[in-house]
Parts: sequence; C-alpha cells; structure tokens
Amino acid sequence: MEDGLSPQKITSGLNNRIIGRRVLCYPSLPSTMETARKEAARGAPEGTVIIADEQTVGHGRLGRTWLSPEGSVSLSVVLYPDIAGLPYLIMIASLAVARSIEALTGLEALLKWPNDVLVNGRKVAGILIESSMGGKAVDYAVMGIGINIKVDISAFPEIAATATSLSGELHSSVSRLGVVRRLLVELDGFYKAPRQAIYGEWRSRLTTLGRQVCVVSGGDAQYGRAESVTADGSLMLRADDGSLTKVLAGDISLRDAADDNATR
Ligand code: ATP
Ligand code: BTN
Repeated sequence: MEDGLSPQKITSGLNNRIIGRRVLCYPSLPSTMETARKEAARGAPEGTVIIADEQTVGHGRLGRTWLSPEGSVSLSVVLYPDIAGLPYLIMIASLAVARSIEALTGLEALLKWPNDVLVNGRKVAGILIESSMGGKAVDYAVMGIGINIKVDISAFPEIAATATSLSGELHSSVSRLGVVRRLLVELDGFYKAPRQAIYGEWRSRLTTLGRQVCVVSGGDAQYGRAESVTADGSLMLRADDGSLTKVLAGDISLRDAADDNATR
C-alpha cells in the first residue's frame, strides 16, 4: 500500500525523546489498548507505540464501540506517569491531535470536553486514557488515539451524523504516515512540557466553555453553563439556580443543551 505504515517509515529522522522511540505496527488488532496493556505489563519502554491499520473491536469509554476501518489510524502509547500527571494525559493527547491536524491540513481542530476532537463540529478523533494503579502509584497508563483520516464516513450510518474524516473535510487525500509522524512529534513535545502550559492551551481550545450543556451520567441529566475547567481536567458547571458543580470526566457524556431539549 502506497501509504502503508511501518516502524521504520514512522521513526525515520525523528529525534523523539520518549514517545515513539519504539513503534510496533500491525495490519489488524482487536484493540491497540489491549496490546499496549500487555506490553506495559511486561515492562515495555516508556513511549512504546502500538499502531493498527484497523481494529476489530475498538472501544471508547464505558465499552462503547469505536469504529476503526481501513483508512483510519488507531494507536496506543505505553506511559509511566506519576499520579499527578494522569489528568494531563487527556490534554496532551487532545492538543497533539489538534495541532497535527492543523499543521497537515489547515483545518481548524477544536476540542469538546472531555475527549473529542472536532472539525467543523463533527468528531474526527477520539481519545481514551486507561491506567492501572498499584496502591497509590500508577503501574502504567495507556493513551489511545483514533483518527478518521481517509475514511468515507457515509459508509457508516451509525456515526454518519456526528463524525467526519480529514479526507472528507478536505475533499482530497491525506497521508496517514504524515499524520502519525507529526502526532508522535507533538506528543513527545507535550509529554514533558510544563503542566501549566499544557492546561492553558487545552483550556483555550475547548469549544465547550461558555455553552449551555447537559451532562449525562447513568440515568441522570444535569443542565447548566460550562463555565470553566480545572487543572485536574474537571468541568465546572453553573446551574440556573447559580450553584456550581464540579463534574469529573469519568463516566459522563456531554450534549449541547439545545440538542438535548430537542430530542426530549
Ligand atoms: P459521548 O458521545 O457520549 O460524548 P464520547 O464521544 O466521549 O461519548 P465514547 O464514550 O468514548 O465517546 O464512545 C465512543 C463514541 O464515539 C460511540 O458512541 C460512537 O458514537 C462514536 N464513534 C465510534 N466510532 C467513531 C469514529 N470512527 N469516529 C467518530 N465517532 C465514532
Ligand atoms: C472516544 O470515543 O472518544 C474514544 C475512542 C478511542 C479510540 C482509540 S483508537 C486506539 C485505541 N484503541 C481502542 O480500542 N480505543 C482507542
């Protein structure tokens, strides 16, 4: 395949300090998350990247399905952060994806709290952070990133209304190799960057802030204005009665309040 990925092509000429020093490529995997977890459990070097051309059981949060057909890129990175570094992983991944998209395509990439990357209001990439704790310390964390690069989203009715791809937005082809290489450079640059700077750039790219939103957790829905985000990645939600609630990224879904009202 002209745009085929290989560890050699991906790492050639990159001088990354941590992320991407070791890259493993597979034509197909159930999920790069599981392969990365196994690598971490056997002590893989920090920054090991697992890449699959397609996943057969890709997943998002709470076991939701993540479609990863040919033309997308799915990757997971093995990391050993300290516990204070955990909330920054979602920020680092989001920023690296957004910057890579902008650099390679000129499209504007915005972030929807907590874990979506949007182009023209539709989801082009998803991010999943999983960690394994040993008592109060982090055994390892896995940063998972899926990007729709050369994907015809209309072939997937279940996401056609909410998702997009880089090729679909640009109406031309985009190099998967180019996106992956740039992504690894951005991830490496952010991984040891000052946390205050990471938080500041993440906050500034969040399209969620200032909007009326509906936070859904289990069967509960909370309405309010997305007022701010804290340095641990939580959302501060201002309800109509003036009360302020801190919402953890964990198990929630976020909708525009207007969309939610329309469907009730
Ligand atoms: P929510 O939509 O509730 O905010 P989320 O965006 O954070 O959730 P996850 O909870 O991780 O996402 O679940 C993945 C969701 O992403 C699925 O419910 C599905 O609608 C959507 N999805 C699956 N595959 C793709 C894809 N390739 N591109 C864009 N969206 C996808
Ligand atoms: C989301 O829906 O926002 C999160 C999706 C995360 C998808 C990526 S693709 C690489 C890695 N492997 C998976 O099974 N999930 C993550």
